[in-house]
Amino acid sequence: MTDLAALSLQSAAPWWQPQAGRALVIRGGRPLAGTYPISGAKNAVLPLMVSSVLTPHLVTLHNVPASLDVAVLAALLQRLGADLRWSTTDEGLSVTICADRIQPGRIETDLVARMRASVLLLGALLARSGEARLPMPGGDAIGLRGIDFHVAGLRAMGAHIDLAGGMIHARAPAGLKGADIRLSLPSVGATENLMLAAVCARGTTVIRNAAREPEIADLARCLAAMGVTITGLDSHTLVIEGGAPLTGAVHTVMPDRIEMGTLACAAAITDGAVLLRHAQADLLGAAGPVLAAAGVVLEPVDGGVVARRSPDGLAGTDFVTQPYPGFATDLQAPVMALLARAGGASAITETIFEQRFRHVDELRKMGADITVRGRTAWVRGAAALNGAAVTCTDVRAAAALVIAALGAHGETVLEGLDHLDRGYDRIAEKLAACGAAVARV
Ligand code: EPU
Repeated sequence: MTDLAALSLQSAAPWWQPQAGRALVIRGGRPLAGTYPISGAKNAVLPLMVSSVLTPHLVTLHNVPASLDVAVLAALLQRLGADLRWSTTDEGLSVTICADRIQPGRIETDLVARMRASVLLLGALLARSGEARLPMPGGDAIGLRGIDFHVAGLRAMGAHIDLAGGMIHARAPAGLKGADIRLSLPSVGATENLMLAAVCARGTTVIRNAAREPEIADLARCLAAMGVTITGLDSHTLVIEGGAPLTGAVHTVMPDRIEMGTLACAAAITDGAVLLRHAQADLLGAAGPVLAAAGVVLEPVDGGVVARRSPDGLAGTDFVTQPYPGFATDLQAPVMALLARAGGASAITETIFEQRFRHVDELRKMGADITVRGRTAWVRGAAALNGAAVTCTDVRAAAALVIAALGAHGETVLEGLDHLDRGYDRIAEKLAACGAAVARV
């Protein structure tokens, strides 16, 4: 990260510190024990922060994860003219966002290129002010990740959108109007973008084949607190009544189901037992039964879930990633790392992103026996993994390498830590509190 980018992050999110050290060194083999607090969900907090752009009133979010993605979005909102006030209590980080003087003009920033969720500003800015201009979004290199569904949906709502020179320029001088939209795939980002736009459109918007990820329902709860009527949350058809006068909102971000799954794998691979505070096992969807089949015991208790390895040990199992409530693509890499140490073979099929096996080569450096053919990775559980020098290629690849390192013999040195920091709130610190030997060097 450049010094300039670091400065703008610190001005918008003063709790964010450039992490010292380029590498994370993990000495494996220690069982994790104790309490690991699960943070607010990365993929819920980003659309929630963007929803503040819709209203001139205050939006307060509690349980905000202190991650790099949150700091980047805070900096983007600040450059658009929003005022952000942060506070920290025993319950975690909170932010109050005031977007009464938002300037929808051109967002010329290196920051957009860093984060895919910045594309959500398109729907929210169009809705609020009739115009948005931003660079094509960045984010993890895990596939093509087009924005054609976002663009088609907004056009159906009356927006004029030009895509040229790496920029998106959207206008709706007469405002947006409600529309009946069918998504070709239940895209999470497109569903969120169209929900945000629909809030200020004239009339009713119907989003068919909408995503049903729990983060969508969390956004809907916050929009409902602002005065918006949204129905159909238990189905793939969302109906949003646009044009209601908006108030502010106070909302607590849902717990991060992907962090929960990641830490459950970490507890099981080390044969430890960890209380995942604030975790909710019912958010795992199809990943719950897959983890159980792999030998991860998740026991709901007061205040969270205890994760440990089954007395029968870890076992190979097969799964296919699917939109929610199917197995989450974001848990594919972490669970692959666990299965690399299981007894028996596993077949893992990725259907959401076409380049989401980049962690395989890194896991192989640690002794994992994995072969990729097309969209399926064939894993033969190894008796042992060994520490190695590895590179994180995306946020969940980074999580997979942390899990493998915790369960490996010897020392693993991970580079590419920006990916880890993007999605995981103080993971090294929280793991160390559970007895892991981790240090940033
Ligand atoms: N797609 C298109 N055109 C579009 C939109 C999506 O072709 O206009 C394709 C994508 O290329 C992909 C599939 O549809 O193949 C699904 O993409 P989706 O839009 O659902 O993903 P996203 O909104 O870009 C969010 C999460 C991802 C998570 C996916 C799927 C955020 C900020 N990101 O991405 O999170 O993997 O949904 O659940 O919410 C992560 O946390 O590691 C992460 C990558």
